Amino acid sequence: MLTENAFDAAYKFCYSFLKLLPEQYAIPLGKGIYKRLPHILIPETEIHWPGHERKIVDVTFYNPLILGSYYSEPWMWDVAFHTGFGGVATKTTTHNARKGAAHPRVVRLRNGFVNCESYPNPGGKEMARRIKEFNKVYNGDGILVASIAGTAREIEEIVSESDPHVKCFELNISSPNYMLTDELYRNPNTLEDLFRVMEKSRKPTLVKLARGYEEENNSFVILLGLKYGIRAYHYGNTQPVIDSRLSAGRGGYSGPDLFKGTMENIIKMRKKFGKDIILIAGGGIDSAERAERALEYADFLAYLSAFITKGPTLPRKIKRRIIGA
Ligand SMILES: Cc1cc2nc3c(=O)[nH]c(=O)nc-3n(C[C@H](O)[C@H](O)[C@H](O)COP(=O)(O)O)c2cc1C
Repeated sequence: MLTENAFDAAYKFCYSFLKLLPEQYAIPLGKGIYKRLPHILIPETEIHWPGHERKIVDVTFYNPLILGSYYSEPWMWDVAFHTGFGGVATKTTTHNARKGAAHPRVVRLRNGFVNCESYPNPGGKEMARRIKEFNKVYNGDGILVASIAGTAREIEEIVSESDPHVKCFELNISSPNYMLTDELYRNPNTLEDLFRVMEKSRKPTLVKLARGYEEENNSFVILLGLKYGIRAYHYGNTQPVIDSRLSAGRGGYSGPDLFKGTMENIIKMRKKFGKDIILIAGGGIDSAERAERALEYADFLAYLSAFITKGPTLPRKIKRRIIGA
């Protein structure tokens, strides 16, 4: 196995080359490199952080790090667990397969990304099959979190198709690239229907909240979720921005600039809801120092961009900072 420093240097070199390409070519190439890279070359980090386990209902996460939703490929989930994430959120899945927005749908901005992907995904049935197959071969302690989105009826279908293979769901009500988000935030009855379905599913559920709707999150979304027994809230998704380079002309920003807003809002949420909620801080976490600051208020941390920009040794750096090992 390469040492952490040697791996970081090699990663930095490859990433600086990929950065020369437009994202739409860099993404498949970067993934292709990972796919072909034997695990043995990627530094492995033990998932267990003694004394830092977290529970969401009856599901135990052996550390508080979650890889944010993006990957729908099982081998990528495996890489993420290998690098030390306690949880991995799958790509958000809708009931029917979706091709997603036209290219270009991901561009770089301020050390992060803007995407207007609109959930390209293989659909609920296929995702359930992938999760089932993954469970057969994966024998580690990482928790796969199935990220899902749709209307109450669609969510009901996805949940029934994926049961009993899924341990935990993330209900995504928050993408700036999905019209349903506006509808859910404008109409509490529609949101309540979704929460009712999740309550019936009896599966532990995280709710991924939208950025740009802080007032609504704190005034009714969380209260409504608590009414249906949902205690875990992930703040938050990408920041809506206008970007003419994207096919849709607008999208959601991910990356380091989100961190200030993430901290301000998780502090407010903790103050308002105390220990009634399980708080997942997400957005702009890209260093062990930032992770430590967010963990002063949050129970879990989620990040995605830094997995790409900083490489897969960040979980072990965070672990070292938090537990000193
Ligand atoms: C290309 C791309 C695709 C994404 N797809 C999803 C998705 O399908 N579902 C979701 O909930 N979040 C999605 N996200 C948002 C991330 O999971 C994460 O919440 C966001 O990037 C903020 O965290 P970060 O600053 O650590 O990247 C996506 C982000 C990017 C860059």
